[in-house]
Amino acid sequence: MGELPEIHKGLDGVYVSESTICKVDGTAGRLYYRGYPIDDIAKNSNYEEAAYLLLNGKLPNGAELEDFSSKLKAERELPDKIINIITESAGKSDPMDILRTAVSYLSIYDNDTKTQTKEANLKKAIKLIAKTSSIVATIGAAMEGRSYTKPDSSLGHSENFIYMLKGKKPTPDEVKPVEMMFILQAEHSTNASTFATLVAGSTLADLYSAVTAGISALKGPLHGGADEEALRMMEAIGDPSNTEAYINDALAGKKKIMGFGHRVYKAYDPRAKIIKGYLLTLQQNPSAEVKRLTEIALRGEKLMIDKLGQTHGIWPNVDFFAGPVYVSAGIKVDLFTPLFAASRMAGWCAHMIEYWEDNKLIRPLELYKGEIDKKYVPINDR
Ligand code: ACO
Repeated sequence: MGELPEIHKGLDGVYVSESTICKVDGTAGRLYYRGYPIDDIAKNSNYEEAAYLLLNGKLPNGAELEDFSSKLKAERELPDKIINIITESAGKSDPMDILRTAVSYLSIYDNDTKTQTKEANLKKAIKLIAKTSSIVATIGAAMEGRSYTKPDSSLGHSENFIYMLKGKKPTPDEVKPVEMMFILQAEHSTNASTFATLVAGSTLADLYSAVTAGISALKGPLHGGADEEALRMMEAIGDPSNTEAYINDALAGKKKIMGFGHRVYKAYDPRAKIIKGYLLTLQQNPSAEVKRLTEIALRGEKLMIDKLGQTHGIWPNVDFFAGPVYVSAGIKVDLFTPLFAASRMAGWCAHMIEYWEDNKLIRPLELYKGEIDKKYVPINDR
């Protein structure tokens, strides 16, 4: 019998492609979009610029950014049918299920769905980025019983998202955190949802099909769904003084604490540092709710780092501090993961378009452990 192949469960440690989009340095805890440190992008850019950078590989000049932003604005409106799907399902289905269905449905409104040129796919990416944001805002509005708010082309991407979500012009205190989260969640190399996108797209299925697979993968609590679970844990903890007992009990019961740990980062996730930094700036004048959640988050962070940080490489990830920040902007917990998807749409599209430049069907192997040559038994003899 030949030597058994080595199995990389969960593709842990396996390189599947080359890319120039994003570098995650898991040891140093650094993240780069197209070579630019995430701190610089988060500090100086807006989402439109970050999305342009991811899709086109360079920072836009003024005219290019203006052109890209107006193309996004022109694609924000949603077809009536999609508004109806959202309105009919809001409150009855998981928002991520509504989002997945609505994004998938967008394909029937695009005459170029099957056109596989780079130019057509970049146009689809703009449609997807603009409309996914509108879809998420409309889901959030419908869940609170509000009808569709038409997009406002005088507003930037994040501002318009909040406007469509809340039906009124946003305040700077709402825009800043949402803009930050849009930028920080836009891209993160070949994570589970990006890989799912690539697997679907590597069959030469169209971009809508590919990103629909990405949304499906993002939903789970081990990936994008962790932001909601982390906030639900903070809600369950209730009073900050319960934090240590709650987390110790959970760990003793072998439960994972959502918002901690990462397949690649064995250091503090740089996005979590930026989000925590923002949260701390809110402490000058926080609402009682944000103050309470922040206190729980800081106590939880300290405990987890003391217990599992240096020893096990389990540090806060992007999802841990996101909840209190969203709460500060009045975003409800059910919308955290859909908002993550709206932001990550830029990264999924950038990766898919890059992968198609030198496409190879993704088809790994599995080691068959069952029997062979079994004798077929007719149904009446079983
Ligand atoms: N809390 C407690 N223990 C943890 C945690 C955690 N959050 N994360 C990992 N561990 C422990 C595991 O129990 C396991 O312990 P064991 O070796 O004693 O069995 C060990 O660390 C390794 O964990 P795995 O899950 O096998 O490692 P993997 O690389 O597959 O996990 C993952 C990465 C899935 C992100 C994991 O850390 C996790 O489940 N975290 C919680 C969910 C989460 O926050 N996901 C968001 C990640 S960021 C993102 O996707 C946007």
